[in-house]
Amino acid sequence: MNILVSGGTGYIGSHTCVELIQAGHDVVIFDNLSNSKVDVLDKIEEITGKKPKFYQADMRNAQELAPIFQENKIDGVIHFAGLKAVGESVAMPWEYYNNNICGTLNLISEMKKAGVNKLVFSSSATVYGDPAFVPITEECPLGVTTNPYGETKKMLERILMDFQKANPDWHIMLLRYFNPIGAHESGLIGEEPNGIPNNLMPYIMQVAVGKLPMLRVFGDDYDTPDGTGVRDYIHVVDLALGHVAVMKKFEDQPGVYIYNLGTGIGYSVLDIVKAFEKANDIKIPYQVVERRPGDIATCYSDPSKAEKELGWKTKFDLEQMCVDSYRFARKMLNTAI
Ligand code: NAD
Ligand code: UD1
Repeated sequence: MNILVSGGTGYIGSHTCVELIQAGHDVVIFDNLSNSKVDVLDKIEEITGKKPKFYQADMRNAQELAPIFQENKIDGVIHFAGLKAVGESVAMPWEYYNNNICGTLNLISEMKKAGVNKLVFSSSATVYGDPAFVPITEECPLGVTTNPYGETKKMLERILMDFQKANPDWHIMLLRYFNPIGAHESGLIGEEPNGIPNNLMPYIMQVAVGKLPMLRVFGDDYDTPDGTGVRDYIHVVDLALGHVAVMKKFEDQPGVYIYNLGTGIGYSVLDIVKAFEKANDIKIPYQVVERRPGDIATCYSDPSKAEKELGWKTKFDLEQMCVDSYRFARKMLNTAI
């Protein structure tokens, strides 16, 4: 297929482009480069031998999207583009609602005009809020979100469901990601957060390379085996492969299909610290501090629907996630010097 990847120079997008190309698909990327760098395209070429066609375009601007559809015969869109920093979304709600919601509505209009009716949307486990039960199946009721970022995901899921009801020939896949970490084994692409990271693994990576002195563990009094928060960490390459698997689903009946993309295993913050230390033979100093507002105790998936319907199952374990994260962190530091 010829796939248009929005946000394709970003963290998950770049890994997905690699796997799509390696699976024989053609890829066209657009991104406004607000949270990624154009040299990612060279890295994708270095890994796959193919440089994807690229448009620097902002999805808030319909005039920048239209030529992409006019100049390429697009079969389907994987929509990663969006702002994703939870704390920033609390400080800048207008920007988050405008970018994520208006941008997506624009993208849908351009798809409609071009007669493209296949869409994969990057949703998040955040839509489950504090989940009603774990492991979380797709039937778990949606919960209360604690920030504008999470609300944009919930709203966009609803918008896309309503849209599909009114446009029954559309194929819409809502993929709810759990916690992607890790990097491509080449060490060429990975997650490069701006400033001090908010998420656990990017923070540990910076402690590991000596950019930050120690990890702060946000609370050890949760109702979990060791008192620290439990999450479902998934290797970003496994997540990328989930997108390749979902392409086959476009051959099925039109409709809205929802899948959890996770491993089904919950690890605590201290499990991650210990695994990182063991896998990389390095010490990660940490200190337990207050809980982070808005955090929940436990969140992990039941990924069996994706396995049954897509034939997709994760293959990388926590050790590999830690090894690949550290390799990328060291490369990042070397290039930054
Ligand atoms: P990322 O920031 O690395 O990638 C997103 C890309 O979108 C960036 O390259 C950015 O420049 C681009 N972008 C943002 N606004 C745009 C606009 N208006 N027009 C064009 N491009 C725009 O983030 P990621 O981690 O790769 O996440 C990809 C998607 O997956 C996002 O929608 C995110 O919300 C979702 N998601 C991510 C996680 C995670 O932990 N990383 C978890 C659940 C869901
Ligand atoms: C966070 C977001 C979520 C988003 C996801 C992926 C919040 C409340 N939720 O999820 O909306 O979809 O990232 O981008 O921000 N931790 C520490 N010290 C740190 C960082 C994290 O102890 O420096 C702990 C957290 O308390 C949590 C676990 O590590 O228990 C994972 O945190 P994080 O990586 O931020 O992911 P989520 O909170 O699951």
